[in-house]
Amino acid sequence: MRQVHVVRHPLVQHKLSLMRSAERSTQGFRRLLNEIGMLLAYEVTRDLPLEEVEIDTPLARMKTPLLSGKKLVFAPILRAGMGFVDGMLDLVPSARIAHIGLYRDPKTLQAVEYYFKAPPDVAERLVVVLDPMLATANSAVAAVDRLKERGCRELRLVCLLAAPEGIERFHGAHPEVPVWTAAIDSHLDSHGYIVPGLGDAGDRMFGTR
Ligand code: URA
Repeated sequence: MRQVHVVRHPLVQHKLSLMRSAERSTQGFRRLLNEIGMLLAYEVTRDLPLEEVEIDTPLARMKTPLLSGKKLVFAPILRAGMGFVDGMLDLVPSARIAHIGLYRDPKTLQAVEYYFKAPPDVAERLVVVLDPMLATANSAVAAVDRLKERGCRELRLVCLLAAPEGIERFHGAHPEVPVWTAAIDSHLDSHGYIVPGLGDAGDRMFGTR
């Protein structure tokens, strides 16, 4: 039931190492997150169902595969999840976007919702939740809770880095939702940061540190 896919593609691993460096500029960090977003979109869509359709090429009629099944929604958790969106839309331009505004209360580390806007047919779609840092997992759990309340049944979670504690907590709440991550780091520190991690992904992306 509980699935965690660690994406070991060399380009993903290389780009993640560049992002981890404290020397990386805001511009560089954002560009790399976008590029990794595209590569992770490739991985998370690897098993999408296909159906054979007939088409005419300029030379002949043929049967050829096209995507079938549920259409996609990317659901970034604001703000860091936005860093994945453009790269993912480059690969799946027809996907819809659901914005989920959650912030971590710095004292309790609990997720506090301040915004939720999803396409009207979100329950009929495959929803890919985007949260670069799966730390305490409070935000990811709250986002999936909310999407399930809206009727969503087929969900996936894509992150960049995960802490073992975050995976445990996420799958404790939503064991059937598979997770894709580029790496699983050592642990969380007392402030809920992933160690060694890369710091605060939102701050590094937007230059707000
Ligand atoms: N959120 C971040 O941006 N970084 C962490 O290490 C943990 C949560």
